[in-house]
Amino acid sequence: MKFLILGASGLVGGNCLKYFTEQGHDVLGTHFSFETEHTQFFNTLDLDDENNADVDGFAPDIIVHCGALTWVDYCEENEEESYQKTVQSTLNAIEISKKHNAKLVYLSTDYVFDGKKGLYAEVDDVNPLGVYAKHKLASEQAIQASGVEHLICRITNVYGDEIRGKNFVSRLSENMRKGEAMELKLPSDQYATPVNAWDVARAILKLVAANKSGIYHFAATDYLNRIELAEQVIGYFGHEQVSLIPVTTEQLNQLAPRPLLGGMNASKFNAEFPDFRWSNVDDYLKKLKKRYE
Ligand SMILES: NC(=O)c1ccc[n+]([C@@H]2O[C@H](COP(=O)([O-])OP(=O)(O)OC[C@H]3O[C@@H](n4cnc5c(N)ncnc54)[C@H](OP(=O)(O)O)[C@@H]3O)[C@@H](O)[C@H]2O)c1
Repeated sequence: MKFLILGASGLVGGNCLKYFTEQGHDVLGTHFSFETEHTQFFNTLDLDDENNADVDGFAPDIIVHCGALTWVDYCEENEEESYQKTVQSTLNAIEISKKHNAKLVYLSTDYVFDGKKGLYAEVDDVNPLGVYAKHKLASEQAIQASGVEHLICRITNVYGDEIRGKNFVSRLSENMRKGEAMELKLPSDQYATPVNAWDVARAILKLVAANKSGIYHFAATDYLNRIELAEQVIGYFGHEQVSLIPVTTEQLNQLAPRPLLGGMNASKFNAEFPDFRWSNVDDYLKKLKKRYE
């Protein structure tokens, strides 16, 4: 199969690029501002950009759209930019998908929910709280209304190997490993289901290979708040100069509202793929520790 991955210089897209390639598929991965060895430039906001990779020549069967403005607090004050990078980029991905009759795989989030319930299933009612969340839902709805064959994979709190190492678990473990002194003020009331980007890639390929469509929630067995997640990292890489200070979301006063009891219920996926095994944060940290020995 031929996969076009929009946003393959990022965390999820980078893992998809590596995994799908390893599995023998033909993959064109794109970057925008961050060039990598294995990606080509493509601007999802300007399909006629003369520097764009030759997507038409590649003629994808599947498009995995990972591009979005993911900095939720910034989105709150920059609504138009958020719309462009999240919704408009999706409308453009739909256009490419229609042109090539390609299935569109969209990465979405638990932020489409309000966080009053936690561990959301696909059938639960959406109620996004902030700008980023509303734009992610608007993108989902645009895909559903477009008539293109699609998968919407909702994820949250993604960690794992990534070139820029910018995800929470990677950043924290790297800084601790360097012995940096740090005081971490983290919310003890924001819960999510951390998931490894490698498992996200594996799960996407399972769904595509089985020709599934519609919405799927991805999650491993961890259900953690930020303090608990940091404690796991400290368990492997911590030292005496790391101090952890639990605070409430109210005290943090973040610009964008957060769904407090977030997280995904992956029962639908797990029932359809009973042999699939999700890894958890502990497995990843164990692996990281070994890598550094
Ligand atoms: N990470 C999470 O915890 C999480 C949770 C829930 C949902 N999601 C969703 O999962 C998706 C992937 O997230 P991620 O964490 O992998 O994000 P990421 O690491 O920030 O990667 C985003 C990717 O989009 C690309 N991009 C941005 N603007 C672009 C443009 N105009 N044209 C083409 N490409 C563009 C970026 O390219 P450059 O860097 O090269 O500019 C990058 O490759 C996003 O849709 C996000 O909303 C992520």
